[in-house]
Amino acid sequence: MMPYGYSTDPELDRSTNRVMWAGVVLLIAMAAAFPLYLLYEPASREDARAAQLASLVTEGESIWSFSCASCHGETGAGNSAPALNSQQFLQSASDEQIQLLVSVGVPGTAMSAFSQDFAGPMTSEQIKAVTTFLRSWEDDAPDVPNWRDP
Ligand code: HEC
Repeated sequence: MMPYGYSTDPELDRSTNRVMWAGVVLLIAMAAAFPLYLLYEPASREDARAAQLASLVTEGESIWSFSCASCHGETGAGNSAPALNSQQFLQSASDEQIQLLVSVGVPGTAMSAFSQDFAGPMTSEQIKAVTTFLRSWEDDAPDVPNWRDP
């Protein structure tokens, strides 16, 4: 019977030592890799955020075509409803204001409530998506000072 925890077999001792050294080397490699990970991580988080934004814009674009374009125009130039593709509009309205307005609508006008909380068809995630799509126009939006009545 061998005592527990070590052996008298030199071959087994050698292989145990090899495993231990492999562990030490691995630990050092991980410690060395950690700063590299820290360097890389913010970039990958930024990529993830950009990808999420892009998918919101894509979803928002199809919501726009389906639910908003008939009144506001496919390109947002306005029609029977205000032009929303307008520097003046986009700079004056925050995302929160747009989401709220689309959620509850403008009583007494053709702008109905879109949130399911107000008997509309959309989830808050969908309203956020279409708002993100409107915001994506801002960089190239034309000057339309009379956006309320284009
Ligand atoms: C049936 C026509 C119609 C549809 C469909 C429609 N709107 Fe409107 N919307 C209007 C009208 C009319 C107004 C102006 C209301 C007023 O007189 O204040 C308006 C106003 C707005 C405003 C506010 C502009 C301001 O005065 O600050 C936003 C934002 C808006 N709509 C977004 C949307 C979005 C997003 C959708 C699709 C989810 C949509 N609308 C669908 C008719 C429509």
